[in-house]
Formats: sequence, C-alpha cells, structure tokens
Amino acid sequence: MKIYRCSFTASTAWGGAMDDCRADATYSDAMHKSLLNDDFIYAIVSQFELNTRGIHGPMHWGRVMENGLRLAEETGADRKVVALFAFFHDSRRINDGHDPEHGLRGADFAAVMRGTLFELSDDAMHLLHYACQYHSEGLLDADITVQTCWDADRLDLGRVGVKPRPDRLCTEAARQIEIRDWANYRSENFVVPDFVASWIEHDRNTPVCGGGNA
Ligand SMILES: [Fe+2]
Ligand SMILES: [Fe+2]
Repeated sequence: MKIYRCSFTASTAWGGAMDDCRADATYSDAMHKSLLNDDFIYAIVSQFELNTRGIHGPMHWGRVMENGLRLAEETGADRKVVALFAFFHDSRRINDGHDPEHGLRGADFAAVMRGTLFELSDDAMHLLHYACQYHSEGLLDADITVQTCWDADRLDLGRVGVKPRPDRLCTEAARQIEIRDWANYRSENFVVPDFVASWIEHDRNTPVCGGGNA
C-alpha cells in the first residue's frame, strides 16, 4: 500500500516532466488566489471526518481540481464550479468504503456554505449541487460543466488501482490518451498539489509527516 509522505510534492513527483509541473503550479496559484483562499480550505478540511492523507481527502481534491481545470481549457466548463466540486464532492464522507449518500451530503454542505465561504449564481449552484450529488452514479450525460467535474474525479481513480475506461468518461477532452496518462500517473503516484500540501500537514488527526510504508 502506498502512503503519502509530506516531502512528495508535485514537483518531486514529476521529475523530468517540468512543463507539466509548471502548468499545475499555474492552476494552483491562480485558483488559490481567486477562489480557494485559506479560509475556504480550512473550513472544508477542518470538518472532514476522515484522514486527510486518505484516498478521499485533500490530496484527491487537489488532483481533481487540477484535472478539472485542465479539462476546462477544452470543454469550456465553469472553472469556479469545477474547483468547488473538487473540494465538496467527497468532503462529507463518513468512511472510505461504501457510502452511498456522500455525494448528496457534499452537495448539501456546499449549498449551506454558499454565501459564507463562496459566492455563486443560482444556475452555477444548481450545477455544483447536481455534480456533487450524482458524481458516483456512473452517469455520462449532463451539462458540460457537470461532465467536466465527473471526469475530473474519474481521472483520479488510479489511486485505487483503477484506470478509467474511455467509455466511462463523459468528455472527449478526458478521453484523450495524453490526458488519461497524465492524470493516471499523478493518481497512481499520489502526487500532492502544492496548494493542498500544507493543509494535509496540519491535519488534526495524524502526525505531521507521519506517513511511511505500510
Ligand atoms: Fe465520491
Ligand atoms: Fe472523488
């Protein structure tokens, strides 16, 4: 079983593929400043009931966000909805296994936090709620922003040993082999986007840098 170590960042993980590293950093910096500020991230992480180093925690959220933002360049999806989806969709899980209502709980959590943690139009909020509620149903047809959210999540299945099949992806952008390979490599290697790394290290439930091989 692979365990996250806090020194393992996007930069170290990518090694020679520095062009892609810089692209990730661009996504992270831009969105961190424009949307996902420290108060927002703290609010989501601090209420998360599971281990922040787990398969459904902030490491996953960060990769989903970066997957989604990369897809959005081609799909034209609403980037704000995509980023919010990344952080809300698994935020209310109560276990890392079978938890059929977690999507709805995440969707409702987002609805409650709207106006406090973030602002969103009614139409965009509808898309965010729908994307969160149904993200684990295996659906394919939806608004392009919802499809982009779902694909961003599915492209991170490598962390649990699953390579997403093209026919289970919603968008042509996600079905491209170069996109699937890029995302799958990051997922299988538990790449930690820099903008979420510090929040994992401040996890209230586990020691800082306490990961190891197990
Ligand atoms: Fe989920
Ligand atoms: Fe997820």
